[in-house]
Amino acid sequence: MSNIPTPHIRAKEGDFAKTVLMPGDPLRAKYIAEHYLEDAKLVTDVRNMFGYTGTYKGRPISVMGSGMGMPSIGIYSHELFAFYDVDNIIRIGSAGSISEKCNVRDVVIAQGACTNSAWASQFDFGGTFAPIADFDLLSKAVNIAKEQGTRVVVGNVLSSDPFYNAKKDANKAWMDMGVLCIEMESAALYMEAARCKKKALSILTISDSLITGEELDSEQRQNSFHQMMEMALELA
Ligand code: HPA
Repeated sequence: MSNIPTPHIRAKEGDFAKTVLMPGDPLRAKYIAEHYLEDAKLVTDVRNMFGYTGTYKGRPISVMGSGMGMPSIGIYSHELFAFYDVDNIIRIGSAGSISEKCNVRDVVIAQGACTNSAWASQFDFGGTFAPIADFDLLSKAVNIAKEQGTRVVVGNVLSSDPFYNAKKDANKAWMDMGVLCIEMESAALYMEAARCKKKALSILTISDSLITGEELDSEQRQNSFHQMMEMALELA
């Protein structure tokens, strides 16, 4: 493929599996490769955004960091979908709850991703596009969760540009519409998947609650991370 390597990924053609798991943190990608995959090989490290390919239960799978925010995941997901012929990207991240339905430790599957960012303006819709998860991946993930006995909440999330929002009541309108939690990447990922005719899903663990102020400690984070990982890996 003539477009590879890309400005942000130095892997060769065929280095990525058809399914890529994307945590925000590249060191998380390294941890997943080392602890969950077999025969994992580093395929890219531009800007220390590590990407690995290995196998899980004999099936090829890749894992690569996305960085934080819509511009960052927008770059990596576009290059993976459009230039490395990746078919599925599963974001695995954390989010802050803004709903009574989500407690810390819960796993949320983002059926839709609202956003306060201007990402969609590049498409000049003249209306509002609804970024949604791929239904096959979504229903498969829900079934895996049932089999594993993992409680999941499925619904709308908010992909926010600001983490430190200057507006005091910034979350109220979203809460009134039943949005479950805030993170920073899913809407761009879902729009890139739609644009490239590919599949995407975001699975999130609730790391903190903006309602109660509760936060997971590191051991609790690790346990809910493990449940989310088990679901995501089975999707390959
Ligand atoms: N906002 C955005 N992203 C997040 C949050 C949050 O409160 N918590 C975990 N990821």
